[in-house]
Amino acid sequence: TFNMKLLVILLFSGLIPACRGSNSSYSLPPKLLLVSFDGFRADYLQNYEFPHLQNFIKEGVLVEHVKNVFITKTFPNHYSIVTGLYEESHGIVANSMYDVITKKYFSDFNDRDPFWWNEAVPIWVTNELQENRSSAAAMWPGTDIPIHNTTPSYFMNYSSSVSFKERLNNITMWLSNSNPPVTFAALYWEEPDASGHKYGPEDKENMRRVLKEIDDLIGDLVHKLKMLGLWENLNVIITSDHGMTQCSKERLINLDICLNRSDYTLIDLTPVAAILPKINKTEVYNKLKNCSSHMNVYLKEDIPARFHYQHNDRIQPIILVADEGWTIVLNNSSLKLGDHGYDNSLSSMHPFLAAHGPAFHKGYKQCTIDSVDIYPMMCHILGLKPHPNNGTFGHIQCLLVDQWCIRLPEAIGIVFGVLLILTILTCLFIIMQNRLSAPQPFSRLQLQEDDDDPLID
Ligand SMILES: *[C@@H]1O[C@H](CO)[C@@H](O)[C@H](O)[C@H]1NC(C)=O
Ligand SMILES: *[C@@H]1O[C@H](CO)[C@@H](O)[C@H](O)[C@H]1NC(C)=O
Ligand SMILES: *[C@@H]1O[C@H](CO)[C@@H](O)[C@H](O)[C@H]1NC(C)=O
Ligand SMILES: *[C@@H]1O[C@H](CO)[C@@H](O)[C@H](O)[C@H]1NC(C)=O
Ligand SMILES: *[C@@H]1O[C@H](CO)[C@@H](O)[C@H](O)[C@H]1NC(C)=O
Ligand SMILES: *[C@@H]1O[C@H](CO)[C@@H](O)[C@H](O)[C@H]1NC(C)=O
Ligand SMILES: *[C@@H]1O[C@H](CO)[C@@H](O)[C@H](O)[C@H]1NC(C)=O
Ligand SMILES: *[C@@H]1O[C@H](CO)[C@@H](O)[C@H](O)[C@H]1NC(C)=O
Ligand SMILES: *[C@@H]1O[C@H](CO)[C@@H](O)[C@H](O)[C@H]1NC(C)=O
Ligand SMILES: *[C@@H]1O[C@H](CO)[C@@H](O)[C@H](O)[C@H]1NC(C)=O
Ligand SMILES: [Zn+2]
Repeated sequence: TFNMKLLVILLFSGLIPACRGSNSSYSLPPKLLLVSFDGFRADYLQNYEFPHLQNFIKEGVLVEHVKNVFITKTFPNHYSIVTGLYEESHGIVANSMYDVITKKYFSDFNDRDPFWWNEAVPIWVTNELQENRSSAAAMWPGTDIPIHNTTPSYFMNYSSSVSFKERLNNITMWLSNSNPPVTFAALYWEEPDASGHKYGPEDKENMRRVLKEIDDLIGDLVHKLKMLGLWENLNVIITSDHGMTQCSKERLINLDICLNRSDYTLIDLTPVAAILPKINKTEVYNKLKNCSSHMNVYLKEDIPARFHYQHNDRIQPIILVADEGWTIVLNNSSLKLGDHGYDNSLSSMHPFLAAHGPAFHKGYKQCTIDSVDIYPMMCHILGLKPHPNNGTFGHIQCLLVDQWCIRLPEAIGIVFGVLLILTILTCLFIIMQNRLSAPQPFSRLQLQEDDDDPLID
């Protein structure tokens, strides 16, 4: 029964840590490889075939939807995964940013100034500063920049032209023979994001081809780890930064119709536009307010609290948030067939998370976590003290073998089960009492004579 299981778990939970001191595989330092396939929308997993990834999941855990952070763009979300912070708290609030105080610009082509990254401490820096440990990275955003004067011991400068195979070869080489050992590694790949933008997620034929390629890369990854003898002791997380939704030239919001370009500086365009007014802010706001019924217009101070997107100098005085599938444009801007960046409560914006290794259960599925929960989970696995963050360890406890957790459905089941048993016992008790108190010799006679069923009274 469940109570016996609970009792056993409670009794033995005190003993398990003691086993770790022995020469079992547990005494090796825990290692973690974090992999991101950019723009891997959560429901691709249900709508396409992934034989290699499904094998990985079968022996590990799956979180079907990861609620990511607003805005649902690449740099901000990759930084939230490795810091556990909302964008307003880690400072990478968009792929294109402007800082009014220092007058600096940031873009995906111009991301090398540590100034932008130093508002937070990513996990590879914390890991790097531990005695006898090092970190390695292949193109994960931020890993080629000296954040708080520290890069991973092993990293590659960003270049989209380096193949997945080369990234994988070098990461696994670093994981298998470095001294001090690499205990945290991060691997990034640009697909299926690039194809999602190009074709749109509703282009089944092209997406099927691209997603099969991704699955084959996952097959290569697992094969390589097995070949090198890393597979058994390495914890591997496969996840992504955001999803993707279909756009259309029928769903455009043209800012040039509402606003004179000389009235503002455009810091970021779509689907979340960042507007720095050059004239009276209220005037700009009023012109934008009724610009389109397919976009929300917010003064910075009125941005909904659920976005956690307000308390940072890099968030501009006015932001525009397009409805799902709508694109904000200027007269001359080009259109992508797929895009992301929208409201993080939209399920099309969510990625998934799968994990495998000694730290994780085998064959366990969970509906959802927040992407900021991944950071405290990774710190726990590596035995690192997490920096203050916005994640909740309790959300991911059920994924880990060294934690015990009661899942909500189980808890409800137990409560109802106990109530049901108590009710039955009470009923039996009452019935027994009624029987005992009834005049025994005549009961049979009474039943036969009476048309009414006496038990119903
Ligand atoms: C544990 O490993 C150490 C060296 O790695 C060895 O000296 C020791 O004998 C081992 N102990 C057991 C119980 O195997
Ligand atoms: C680091 O490694 C050295 C040499 O292997 C060892 O003497 C030292 O105890 C280790 N330190 C920690 C904190 O594990
Ligand atoms: C990365 O690029 C910088 C400057 O462009 C260079 O100094 C550095 O050696 C490069 N690092 C690696 C690991 O390639
Ligand atoms: C990967 O490792 C090989 C062999 O050490 C090296 O020649 C190559 O430059 C590395 N690739 C990158 C992108 O750093
Ligand atoms: C935009 O503003 C500039 C400067 O105030 C003005 O010269 C221009 O005519 C305006 N354009 C439109 C289309 O209103
Ligand atoms: C901006 O315009 C509004 C109304 O249009 C006005 O009340 C406000 O005083 C103006 N602010 C500045 C700084 O000029
Ligand atoms: C904006 O739209 C609202 C409701 O749709 C309307 O009441 C208001 O008059 C409009 N304002 C302007 C300046 O067009
Ligand atoms: C954008 O297009 C509109 C309509 O075609 C035109 O009136 C406006 O001047 C254009 N604005 C710019 C900045 O090109
Ligand atoms: C549109 O035109 C503006 C001003 O002429 C220019 O700065 C911008 O790069 C153009 N955008 C695109 C997508 O061509
Ligand atoms: C997120 O965490 C940071 C660091 O602890 C904290 O300063 C911030 O207030 C948190 N944000 C929210 C919305 O709780
Ligand atoms: Zn991305």
